[in-house]
Amino acid sequence: MNVEFDNQKNFFHVYSDKISLILGITKEGCLVQKYFGKKIKEYHESNRYEYLDRAFSPSPYSNDRTFSLDTQRLVYSCTGLGDFRTPAFEVVNEHDALADLRYHRHKIYSGKKELTNLPSSRSNENECMTLEIELVDSFLEMNIHLFFTIFDDSNVIATHAEFVNGMKQHLFLNKALSFMIDLPSSNYDLIKLTGSYAREKMVQRSKLQQGLSIVNSRRGASGHGSTPFIALTEPNANENYGEIISLQLIYSGDFEAGAFVDQLQNTRLFIGINHETFGWQLNKGETFITPEALLAYHDHGLGQMSRELHDFVERYILRGRYKQKERPILLNNWEATYFDFNEEKLLKLADHAEKVGIELFVLDDGWFGKRMDDNSSLGDWTVNYDKLEIGLSGLAKKINDRGMQFGLWVEPEMISVDSELYRDHPDWCIQATGREHTFSRNQLVLDLSQQAVCDYIIHSMSKVFTSSTIQYVKWDMNRNITNISSLSNAKGGKEVAHRYMLGLYHVLAELTQKFPKILFESCAGGGGRYDLGMLCFMPQTWTSDNTDAICRLDIQFGTSLIFPAITMGAHVSAVPNHQVERSVSLETRGAVAMAGNLGYELDLTKLSEAELKAIKEQITFYKKIRPIIQKGELYRLDCSTNDNNDIAFSYVAKDQSESVVTYIRKLAVAEAPITFIKLKGLDSEATYLELETGRRFCGDELMNVGLTIPYSKGDFSSIVYYFRKL
Ligand code: DGJ
Repeated sequence: MNVEFDNQKNFFHVYSDKISLILGITKEGCLVQKYFGKKIKEYHESNRYEYLDRAFSPSPYSNDRTFSLDTQRLVYSCTGLGDFRTPAFEVVNEHDALADLRYHRHKIYSGKKELTNLPSSRSNENECMTLEIELVDSFLEMNIHLFFTIFDDSNVIATHAEFVNGMKQHLFLNKALSFMIDLPSSNYDLIKLTGSYAREKMVQRSKLQQGLSIVNSRRGASGHGSTPFIALTEPNANENYGEIISLQLIYSGDFEAGAFVDQLQNTRLFIGINHETFGWQLNKGETFITPEALLAYHDHGLGQMSRELHDFVERYILRGRYKQKERPILLNNWEATYFDFNEEKLLKLADHAEKVGIELFVLDDGWFGKRMDDNSSLGDWTVNYDKLEIGLSGLAKKINDRGMQFGLWVEPEMISVDSELYRDHPDWCIQATGREHTFSRNQLVLDLSQQAVCDYIIHSMSKVFTSSTIQYVKWDMNRNITNISSLSNAKGGKEVAHRYMLGLYHVLAELTQKFPKILFESCAGGGGRYDLGMLCFMPQTWTSDNTDAICRLDIQFGTSLIFPAITMGAHVSAVPNHQVERSVSLETRGAVAMAGNLGYELDLTKLSEAELKAIKEQITFYKKIRPIIQKGELYRLDCSTNDNNDIAFSYVAKDQSESVVTYIRKLAVAEAPITFIKLKGLDSEATYLELETGRRFCGDELMNVGLTIPYSKGDFSSIVYYFRKL
């Protein structure tokens, strides 16, 4: 990887062995995009920009009618001087909202800066290089620093912007995106992850058209129905073929990611904090730092995109002792007992868990304050002795005595009106002066933009985490933010949403540093905040409250587009399923949950001996394949039947020595055609043993001829194959 500057031609070339980003400075001093895509050796302007006099595109700097900001391929655009497309930022002084950014200077250095107070990718000096370009509006005396970090052996560029207000005047930021680039084509499909609660990460693909296409959140969290990710693919791109540009944001709050196709068929691609719910007072001498974005180019379809993005998450996002450590198989009591538990019930569950080989016992919601349902006690993080006479330490000890780790659920960002905390500090929740509270799940959100609130969370959680041998924490968040007040911090309350995120990140940084041995799993009613920001602190996420295996196929499919299996919590739950009342065999529930970090979330005490035996076998099997799932590479496979009724995917160990292949048929088909699947990622020269049956196949045979799936009847059938190289 390297960053070069050609001072004759005023080009920057940022490259790894996989990608090139070429930026230029026009003679007017504007920063423009010259090329982004597959690595090229040298750039000699084969795509030279053609200056033309375009009607209704104004010329800001001279009477040269061929230069307009409206038609340039800009990198971080201004407002008000003739670029009529959606801008990268908007800064307001007491007169107007105009800005005029010109190149000022640049720096090139090894390594990268970690962003102050925000999560960002982390890498050491010799693994990456950074280009920092400083643009200036000399009238406003405001400088914007743009950062582009290229990583060794990667196709990702980390980028963000920093606004520095000189000493002339106070400014107000109405918008401050992290990244924006104009691409010279609009012939793309746009992919985003949408959905809802219990239906997270549904893949949506559409043809890009003139105007704005966007995915965003204004919930105070990235959201169940929106993920800070967007991709542009060539129209024919599929799992195995085609060029893709992907863009993500390392942020967990309100965001926007979009593409704007202009009248000359250029595409402006952008990502950052959602400007609709954002505003920031930038006083003289102050700096505002945007979250980090990840720009990537992939040349072999969606499958390769996923593998490359997974690799980046594993290398540069996850951190701490669990970064590369296999994750324990857990039993969570939530769907087994909900709030209705006591010591006796939990220990009976634990006895069964021990017998089937569970490694971590997780006590979910309901252990604190006087919480019997979801109407009270959030904020009162002391044990409910009515339910747990032996307290947390007593329970943890009994779990540990049974050979399992002990884990605990918390929801520290919330407060119930019926709590000691609210009675003591009614002013600690987010609320609008003069208006009634807006409840969701009968709870309010603590105002993490207040330092005292953050201190309380750090203090109360530290007490809980040291009260017993807690080795895992599920950090939940079960509502979105409303009633943001104009009196909380800034004009129209516009700073609060981002200040909340800064407060949250501060709390998470403190607690994860203080408790490095705890494995943290983030959750927001399932995948309501499954994003790169949270993954910088918590290396796994509860993917969805929907535990139905068939619904999970789509949820996990969408999740797998950008997040690796090692981050994805997946549990086997009871039938009929509690969310959709579907009954699926234990075998298929296991097959689907084994595609992520396997867990169980059902009342084991109600199962038959045969079911417990089957679970024990599943767990024994998962322990064998766990390294392949959690550290291997994912291939979503094509089935010959080519419909969404047959699903197949595989994980292949990075050294190609082993592979696990999962096939699922959703609904039975009468007179079904024979299904076969062509495997991927294997060593074509090697022979593989299929461990269940002892059959042997060549790698190239499995990948080119394919594997025939035995004919079966009945809905929701599945097969998991385990191959080992001989
Ligand atoms: C929502 C989570 O997603 C569930 O798994 C469970 O922890 C509940 N909250 C508890 O209130």
